[in-house]
Amino acid sequence: MCSRFLRFAGLVGLVLLVQRFWPLPSLFRGWESASIARLDDLCPQVEGLTPATHEALLQSLDQEFGSTEFKLKAYESLGGAVRIPTESYDDLGLPSEDPRWEIETKFHEYLESRFPKVHANLKRTKVNTYALVYEWKGSENVKPLLLAAHMDVVPVNPTTYDDWINPPYSGYYDGEWIWGRGSCDDKPGVIGSLTAIETLLERGFEPSRTVLLAFGIDEEAGGKVGAGAINKYIIETYGPDSIAMIVDEGGGYDDLGGTVFATPGVAEKGYMDIRMDVLTPGGHSSRPPKHTGIGILADLITELEVHPHEPELVRGRTYHQGLECRAKYDTSFPASMRKLVQQSQTSDAKLRELQDVLIDFDPMFYAMSGTTQAIDLVGGGVKVNALPEAVWAVANYRIVDHSSPAELTDRFIDITLPVAAKHNMTLDAFGKMVGSQGPSWGTIRLSDAFDSALVPAPVTPTTGSRPYELLSGTIRSTLETHLRTDGLPMTAVVSPGLMTEMKTLRHVCTDADTRFYWNLTKHIFRYGHRGGADGYNGAHTINEAIRGEGFLEQIRFFSRLILNADQSDLLE
Ligand SMILES: *[C@@H]1O[C@H](CO)[C@@H](O)[C@H](O)[C@H]1NC(C)=O
Ligand SMILES: *[C@@H]1O[C@H](CO)[C@@H](O)[C@H](O)[C@H]1NC(C)=O
Ligand SMILES: [Zn+2]
Repeated sequence: MCSRFLRFAGLVGLVLLVQRFWPLPSLFRGWESASIARLDDLCPQVEGLTPATHEALLQSLDQEFGSTEFKLKAYESLGGAVRIPTESYDDLGLPSEDPRWEIETKFHEYLESRFPKVHANLKRTKVNTYALVYEWKGSENVKPLLLAAHMDVVPVNPTTYDDWINPPYSGYYDGEWIWGRGSCDDKPGVIGSLTAIETLLERGFEPSRTVLLAFGIDEEAGGKVGAGAINKYIIETYGPDSIAMIVDEGGGYDDLGGTVFATPGVAEKGYMDIRMDVLTPGGHSSRPPKHTGIGILADLITELEVHPHEPELVRGRTYHQGLECRAKYDTSFPASMRKLVQQSQTSDAKLRELQDVLIDFDPMFYAMSGTTQAIDLVGGGVKVNALPEAVWAVANYRIVDHSSPAELTDRFIDITLPVAAKHNMTLDAFGKMVGSQGPSWGTIRLSDAFDSALVPAPVTPTTGSRPYELLSGTIRSTLETHLRTDGLPMTAVVSPGLMTEMKTLRHVCTDADTRFYWNLTKHIFRYGHRGGADGYNGAHTINEAIRGEGFLEQIRFFSRLILNADQSDLLE
């Protein structure tokens, strides 16, 4: 995954609402004012949750976590993990065939030596050779808690070695930061959960709820080899819908106007790459037609770009819920917008008005409320005096959470059909002939470019759902008792977050592993307990480093989550 997309960028640059000069028709006026939702009712929170039955244990853990000895050992555990370059590549072959996977064995051995109690007490299964599942068997017959992370990292481009302040595989702790590739994405997920369990084992803790750890090996290359096989293994071993909740990397927390906002990802956009091929007769370009295939493709691309998907603010969807939390708890949120958010609860007109304001207020608005379109690849034409017979382009789409690949392709056909008709072309749309089937000058063929279609993830239940409330309560209690020295406020709220995939260079980065886990539970949370200022730079680039104190908080979070989830009455 790649740092934070849930964040509202650009908190400055507030937009003042233009005063209305014309009064609303009186018929509407009374209705509008009666319909304002109470601020109190927005963004419901649960209280910080500390484990009632394990409270003494928790206190003594926090004492240990605060000690210099513990911190240095934990930071070195992460540093040692960073020093093993578990790079994954887009063209990796099968684990049994491609020797580049073998580095994972070294990583396994490192985990064994660093976490002896975990390896003596938990059952470890190697799935598809290198992915790992650990089972910490509980005494009660209740659904397990699953903590997911990935062991692989994005390769370091050798030409950038010199741009790193500390070498990319040094794992060096400089007194504040732990440096190197994987120090943020996602080795803290692996080392943090193992450290929490090792520490609990040292205290003799025996879980009543089973805890599973699932560590993928190719999240940065799509996740199929690792998470795909892990999903199959868990379905075979525990059955479908057998997991109480899953927590994987994703959103984090940030200080907004003096309140810490934690945004676990509960929804995720879909994805599709659509390829357009324009096939026309060849020939010598001394007798050209009015439009070559390139001209026709250009016409099609122009039509796509003049008809972008309109973003739509939808009441009750995750993004709108996030606005409700901002309205209620973020003191830096403009008052005029706060009122609009309240009114938008019931008034469609105010919902539209809020949308208009957001276009300027939130740079992420388009990406969060609409299907985005980017024509990213184009090719065709071989010789300057030959008519191009085959030209093509690929458009990349991130499908908004309330839409689908089917809706996207239908719309695509609607835009393409008139272009095809205008140029006397046959339209072969995703394997089906559409429109006029008479003799034509050529063919426009549409297809899923890389078998890429991904429906938006099912939305994880939030308010009123016990797993969400357990997670929220754990996040709040961890934040409100934090051991940081950087002055992070100690009041926190939890706001549902929407994830979108981002592409940095050629690497797809998102929480790719959880898409394989949809059949294990409805309760999937994409959340790494880490602050916005805990990464030195973005992931997937130079100078990846994590603030030691930020990593420590992640260990605290994992230990609290395990202890809270252990109280079986709080979960299924
Ligand atoms: C379309 O192209 C075909 C093949 O060149 C031709 O036979 C047909 O008359 C054209 N139709 C129109 C409407 O231009
Ligand atoms: C989830 O279950 C559905 C229905 O049984 C199946 O079609 C789908 O392939 C499964 N998905 C995964 C990732 O296993
Ligand atoms: Zn990641």
